[in-house]
Amino acid sequence: MARALLSRRIFFSITWILLGLTCHTQSSPTPAVLWHGLGDSCCNPLSIGRIQKVIESNVKGIYVRSLQIGTNFFEDTFNGYFLNANKQIAMVCEKLAKDPKLKHGYNAVGFSQGGQFLRAVAQRCPNPPMRNFISIGGQHQGVYGFPRCPGNSSELCNLLRQLLNQGVYVPFIQDNVTPAEYWQDPLNKKEYKQKSVFLADINQERGINATYKKNLMKLSKFVMVKFENDTVVQPKASEWFGFYKENSTSETFTLQQSRLYKEDWLGLKAMDHAKKLVFLKTEGDHLQFSNKWFIQNIVNPYLK
Ligand SMILES: *[C@@H]1O[C@H](CO)[C@@H](O)[C@H](O)[C@H]1NC(C)=O
Ligand SMILES: *[C@@H]1O[C@H](CO)[C@@H](O)[C@H](O)[C@H]1NC(C)=O
Ligand SMILES: *[C@@H]1O[C@H](CO)[C@@H](O)[C@H](O)[C@H]1NC(C)=O
Ligand SMILES: *[C@@H]1O[C@H](CO)[C@@H](O)[C@H](O)[C@H]1NC(C)=O
Repeated sequence: MARALLSRRIFFSITWILLGLTCHTQSSPTPAVLWHGLGDSCCNPLSIGRIQKVIESNVKGIYVRSLQIGTNFFEDTFNGYFLNANKQIAMVCEKLAKDPKLKHGYNAVGFSQGGQFLRAVAQRCPNPPMRNFISIGGQHQGVYGFPRCPGNSSELCNLLRQLLNQGVYVPFIQDNVTPAEYWQDPLNKKEYKQKSVFLADINQERGINATYKKNLMKLSKFVMVKFENDTVVQPKASEWFGFYKENSTSETFTLQQSRLYKEDWLGLKAMDHAKKLVFLKTEGDHLQFSNKWFIQNIVNPYLK
């Protein structure tokens, strides 16, 4: 009798603990932080505003913070083009650290350049901790080319990128024109390595910062989404951390073929072996996806 009572008590206690755990996890989903792309702002109802709503309506009670870089819509958009990426990242690190709702950690979703910027946040600012990181069309090896101007398919496009090359690593441009900070010239890797103020730094091109590697490896998942019909990002391979081969403007290499991976400058090889890297692709042009695709492929597996 006593034994039966005891086991019933144990049974009930376990039930309560389990219930408590489920209630607890249900009532506080991991918050999500979003960083918009170039030419966009935090809360545009047609772009990131829409994404925020989709997440909120699919994850009950979630706190979503869409980052505004500056104090209003105009500054936010302007800063996307002209505020030094390193300054933007420092600003964001401060915002995240000051937000009490994020103190137990968050999942991050970066759109286009917001992708490489949030990776820099993961590498530079481990508190509060980033859990899953989703890069949607981010350019992890930078760009070499103009939107809708595929370099090797037209003389004009090729000329344009060669012209831009002349000025892109000038210090004034590097410090003040955001996209120049992730411009990688495959025909002049040496200059890129020396002078790129942002991308060459976070990609460990000038030497290994052990802190960057240690911090990035803390992620639970690093998801990279590539748009198969992207006409904005040159080359698309950059969305999966690949790029043009050195001295080529058409042939590309994959992450797994890169020195960065083989010598594991950022811990990505270790993360790949631990199944923490996820490579997704979807048909469509840059950032073109349906709510249904986003819910199935991003919200359900990584934001719940
Ligand atoms: C490495 O990165 C950390 C985090 O951003 C920074 O504080 C430190 O100064 C960097 N170290 C070097 C040698 O650049
Ligand atoms: C998009 O790209 C894929 C792979 O290159 C191709 O199979 C598909 O036909 C393209 N779709 C469109 C609409 O162009
Ligand atoms: C690329 O070209 C430069 C300049 O001609 C040369 O120094 C370098 O070794 C080449 N790199 C490769 C991988 O071919
Ligand atoms: C550039 O040329 C290569 C080889 O000729 C081709 O495979 C690639 O699709 C071209 N890229 C673009 C953006 O047109």
